[in-house]
Amino acid sequence: MQIIIKSGTLITASETFQADILIEGEKIVSICEDIDSPGSKIINADGKLITPGGIDPHVHLDLPMFDTVSSDDHYTGHKAAAFGGTTTVMDFVPQDFDTLQEAVDAWHEKADPKAAIDFGFHMNITRLDEQVEDEIPALLDMGITTLKVFTAYNGRLRLQDGEIFRVLRIARENGMLTMLHAENGDVIDILTAEALAAGHTTPEWHARTRPGRGGVEATFRGAALAEQANSALYVVHVNQRGEVDQLRFARQRGVDVFGETCPPYLFFTAEHLSRPDGSKWICSPPMRSPDDNLGLWEALADGSLQTIGTDHCPFFYDGTQPIEYEGEQVAIPGKELGEKDFTKIPNGVPGVGDRLPILWTYGVGAGRITPNQFVALTSTNAAKIFGLYPQKGALLPGSDADIVIWDPDRELTYGRAYAHHRTDYNLYEDWQLVGYPEKVYLRGELLVDGESWLGSRGGGRFLHREPNAIMI
Ligand code: URP
Ligand code: ZN
Ligand code: ZN
Repeated sequence: MQIIIKSGTLITASETFQADILIEGEKIVSICEDIDSPGSKIINADGKLITPGGIDPHVHLDLPMFDTVSSDDHYTGHKAAAFGGTTTVMDFVPQDFDTLQEAVDAWHEKADPKAAIDFGFHMNITRLDEQVEDEIPALLDMGITTLKVFTAYNGRLRLQDGEIFRVLRIARENGMLTMLHAENGDVIDILTAEALAAGHTTPEWHARTRPGRGGVEATFRGAALAEQANSALYVVHVNQRGEVDQLRFARQRGVDVFGETCPPYLFFTAEHLSRPDGSKWICSPPMRSPDDNLGLWEALADGSLQTIGTDHCPFFYDGTQPIEYEGEQVAIPGKELGEKDFTKIPNGVPGVGDRLPILWTYGVGAGRITPNQFVALTSTNAAKIFGLYPQKGALLPGSDADIVIWDPDRELTYGRAYAHHRTDYNLYEDWQLVGYPEKVYLRGELLVDGESWLGSRGGGRFLHREPNAIMI
């Protein structure tokens, strides 16, 4: 079937122009003025804005953590993403098995039957030995080109510097990209033990025991290791001005470093943890200061950061009370697990559905980034860095017809009811929005039509990515 989206204003990472889009099957086949193709279904987009479907490079679906699991799985999280205009997400595979192949197979078992949008995997490397080193290149046959390493979570996820250096070298040899979680695990462990011994149990101690300078130092260290390995590095969840400084410094030295921030780091601070419901804002790394919010906006505007992901890792605020989800009562243990001890609060916040609508109003609408930067930061740059361009992240003939039609005039009071996350709270409750996704297409198929959900479990497809992605 052919579809023509008529007279919309297209926004890409580099241009804004009016045109028609002809879709045939799963692909965009033509973009130009006045397309006429008899028998096509016509969608009138006069007065509407059109962007490529969002790409969220950082989500955690169905992720076991402490004594629970992140409350969105590969169906509910994908559905929430789609309602917010995101048509591709990338999820992290924990290295919880003897072999990487087994870990990836287990994640496919969870994800494939439930997927409602297209998705890719990053592989966590949290244990390195010769067998793992030998197996990493085989990830390419599994369509995985990206490896996440951690300088924190001692005894659980952290690698030593020499191990990170080895991962970076293997990545370079195989056209892969290493992603870094940058905090100082040793300092965190000491400060946490001291805080607990002093009887400090409330959420604000989460931020107080994870100092910002640890992130700055670990970002410097990661970039320096990447330089020594002659390899590229993507720093996830950049949360403060000082980390951006390190990325700029590394770029000046000619290192291929990339930085991703997430909306909570742009809008919230460590002060939010002091609220009576402060556990809602607990994630790692923590949110920082108003000056860091500002520094991150500046870095998005001047190109020092390349992507905005979400680190979507939702938990219920009160997992003892069920919510209704698709007609069923659902309760999943959440933040209340840490009521008496902040170290037991599951780390993570919801956001995959919030990202585009919130950034449209409070990024573009507020004049902090341009509409084209919005598309680059939320879609096109991730497609390039992660080896999906131009299949994804583009409005071009030959690209997948992943398309969002926005109503730029729609005004609404945002919150849980719109977000569709499977959790009992939203960080942006009662925020006023202007402009909102109206129709969302995945490979030419209408998934979201206003408030109607037309997607399905199993409708999403795994994206088998190729190595040697574009270094932007
Ligand atoms: O608090 C967070 N972000 N949880 C997810 C794990 C991670 O490090 O990204
Ligand atoms: Zn992380
Ligand atoms: Zn994460």
